[in-house]
Amino acid sequence: MKDVYILAIESSCDETSCAIVKNGSVDIATVIATQIDIHTNFGGVVPEIASRQHLKNITMVIEDCLNKAHMTMDEIDAIAVTYGPGLIGSLLVGVEAAKTLSLIYNKPLVPVHHIKGHIYANNLNKTMEYPLIALVVSGGHTELVYMKDEYEFEKLGETLDDAVGESYDKVARVIGVGYPGGPVIDKMAKTGTHEYNLPIPLNDDSYNFSFSGLKSAVINLSHNYEQRGIELNKENLAKSFQDVVVETICKKTLKALLDKDVKRLIIAGGVAANSGIREGLKKVCEEHGIDCSYPDLKYCTDNATMIGAAGYFAYKKGLRADSTLNAKSSVSLT
Ligand code: KG4
Ligand code: ZN
Repeated sequence: MKDVYILAIESSCDETSCAIVKNGSVDIATVIATQIDIHTNFGGVVPEIASRQHLKNITMVIEDCLNKAHMTMDEIDAIAVTYGPGLIGSLLVGVEAAKTLSLIYNKPLVPVHHIKGHIYANNLNKTMEYPLIALVVSGGHTELVYMKDEYEFEKLGETLDDAVGESYDKVARVIGVGYPGGPVIDKMAKTGTHEYNLPIPLNDDSYNFSFSGLKSAVINLSHNYEQRGIELNKENLAKSFQDVVVETICKKTLKALLDKDVKRLIIAGGVAANSGIREGLKKVCEEHGIDCSYPDLKYCTDNATMIGAAGYFAYKKGLRADSTLNAKSSVSLT
């Protein structure tokens, strides 16, 4: 079969990214303009600023990507774009850019769900085989997905409130260690010990998660210590928090794997970079003879390469959009 080159665009949050991906598995070129430094000043992503930055960056990012790949638009087979979920103003910039390229160069336009992109980041590592369970853990999502076959998605469960990354970011803010909080808390947890007792969230038999209660427990603990004039050990708090997160994630993921009798697990999303979650799931999978894989760290956080990987399978399935394609802030996986 002829090689398929997808030019992909991702702008759902605070990264403007363009990538060219061959056959859904080879990263030919990736360019990411990150806005983290700008949003750090505000302790989180400011949607209006994010969309203005995307507007500033998008043309340059696409041009840089084509230059890096030493390719022209003539050699591109299709254009894939994240159309949702995400920040509406941010998504719009990528969607309009993709629609314009598709129209000018007469290339098929392939809509990609952001979470499907995170899942297919795994295909950049090694070819995904089915059936599998995908655990999606990011700043906006915490979901367990069953994939019976290629590009088939069945959501088993999700967070009922905060996403796991969001809870990391909020806990980091409470203890004053900056944004984005996930990597900092993860690093601190490595030197801490499990000192504080925190509640295990939604400790039931469902595939759903809940992190807002855990976050509130950390906030209450922090205020309580402050009022009593006692200093909290931040590293120990980070470790205590991370242990509970890892425990709940491992328990629910294992339940999904056993119930569905599936021997493959893939982890996706920004929080897949977390060392505690990686180690915890690795151990659980080894104990049950389950093959567990993760994307490279650089493909865990938002990037267009993963959209190009997912875009290839969507393209193969014949999924197409036209100039009526609209950005959607919330859109179901299935
Ligand atoms: O997937 P992503 O780039 O954006 C969304 O689609 O949400 O994920 C960003 C999230 C942030 O909440 C960040 O704090 C978290 O991923 N994160 C981590 C780690 N690295 C990034 N959380 C825990 N441990 C990490 N090592
Ligand atoms: Zn993401």
